[in-house]
Amino acid sequence: MSTMIRTVAHSEDRYIYVFVLLTLAFLPIRLLAQDEADFYPPSIFPDRIILSLTQDPSHEMGINWRTSTESEHSYVEYGKASASPNIRLAVKSKAGELEPLETEHGLVHYHSVILDALNPNTQYMYRVGDSTELGWSEWSHFRTADREPSGFSFIYLGDAQNNLKSMWSRAVRASFSTKPDADFIFHAGDLIDHADRDREWGEWFYGGGWIFRCLPSIACTGNHEYSRDPDRMHQISKYWGPTFSLPRNGPKGMDETVYYIDYQNTRFISLNTELYLTEKEAAQRQLRWLKSTLKNHDQKWTVVMMHHPIYSSKAGRDNMHMRNDMQPLFEKYDVDLVLQGHDHTYGRGTNMPLGEGQNILDGPMYVVSVSGPKMYDLSLEEWMHRGASDAQLYQVVEIDRAKLVFKAYLVTGELYDSFELHKMSDGKSIFVDATPADQPELLEVPELIRQKYTAGEWKMFKERFAKYKARKKAERRQGG
Ligand SMILES: [Fe+2]
Repeated sequence: MSTMIRTVAHSEDRYIYVFVLLTLAFLPIRLLAQDEADFYPPSIFPDRIILSLTQDPSHEMGINWRTSTESEHSYVEYGKASASPNIRLAVKSKAGELEPLETEHGLVHYHSVILDALNPNTQYMYRVGDSTELGWSEWSHFRTADREPSGFSFIYLGDAQNNLKSMWSRAVRASFSTKPDADFIFHAGDLIDHADRDREWGEWFYGGGWIFRCLPSIACTGNHEYSRDPDRMHQISKYWGPTFSLPRNGPKGMDETVYYIDYQNTRFISLNTELYLTEKEAAQRQLRWLKSTLKNHDQKWTVVMMHHPIYSSKAGRDNMHMRNDMQPLFEKYDVDLVLQGHDHTYGRGTNMPLGEGQNILDGPMYVVSVSGPKMYDLSLEEWMHRGASDAQLYQVVEIDRAKLVFKAYLVTGELYDSFELHKMSDGKSIFVDATPADQPELLEVPELIRQKYTAGEWKMFKERFAKYKARKKAERRQGG
């Protein structure tokens, strides 16, 4: 009898041990899940409010925001901006769409409204909410694009991706401080690190704050906006659609990632390089669309925006097939500027040597940049004329009728790189180097990368470095 009792007791002990072990094993996961839900929870008050440019930026504005499920309606109140706070009689209201989204916070509501029939080159004020007094945002201002081909400017930010609250926030804020009257912000992909992690999107919005409520955004998807579903198929972040109201004029199935916008005198073209590099059929459709979109427009300038660069600024990377596909089109259709990310360094150049007599470009100026804190080492390849590593940057691009001025700033505010393109009547441009003479090139290998370098990698870097310096010296001698 006593043996039987001991056996039962032992078997119960085993159950207890197993229970304790399982609890300990899953505790970190439970704690992590609790932690995730603690970050940036939604409420009835609208947050993650962001403006997007649509296909018709002189008459429309896209507005998206998030709330808890307590907010069941999507309204924007808007009118021409007025210094008087008594604007209620002049205000219109427009209802939009509500999209429930399952997140680490449970179900949340994302809202979107596209304002239309707006006047060009006009300042508006707006607020978003559910139409109850409690659920309204503050009033913010934006300006529509001009219908005339007049001058404008925009901010260009490379990959944000990591430590968004801690380290990226200073980049977006410094860019706004440098150019508060910019017309919009372009994000070059990899806005976040994990496509569907709510905390990272919360941090991205924390960094942008009310700047995103005043300056419209346009964005490319990077590789980090994608994950793989259980069938290993590419799945775009579930946050992309609810976060933006970007144009839907690209190839079928690539809405809001492949698109064009004609802004005053410039055609902006956004490509989806992650799909391009990983899905053959999607690449072919995108390339056909790119060709017709480059060909069929009468804008003076053309800017292509894409995440993966066709000339890489990071050591050991190359996208040769994409380059072979796209570069002939860029050259044939006089693309002026290709703005890219992905390589976590800064690189600017053409695919040709500059120097005396070589300043009429026969192709676009290629730029790679990074705004977040993840840092790689430089390729220092032939195409590069100015590089930077171990530095967060932001860029301001000003485009007027016949002149494009590009300025890259260190996140601390110093001008790091600059050039001008002067448009000629045949569509080609004259390149004018305006690199600040007092700003030495930052070419060193970032500490974390250097620690992992093998002896062979060190040797290769030193060779690249010496070759780059020699080429720059020769170009300076030629006056290029
Ligand atoms: Fe990337």
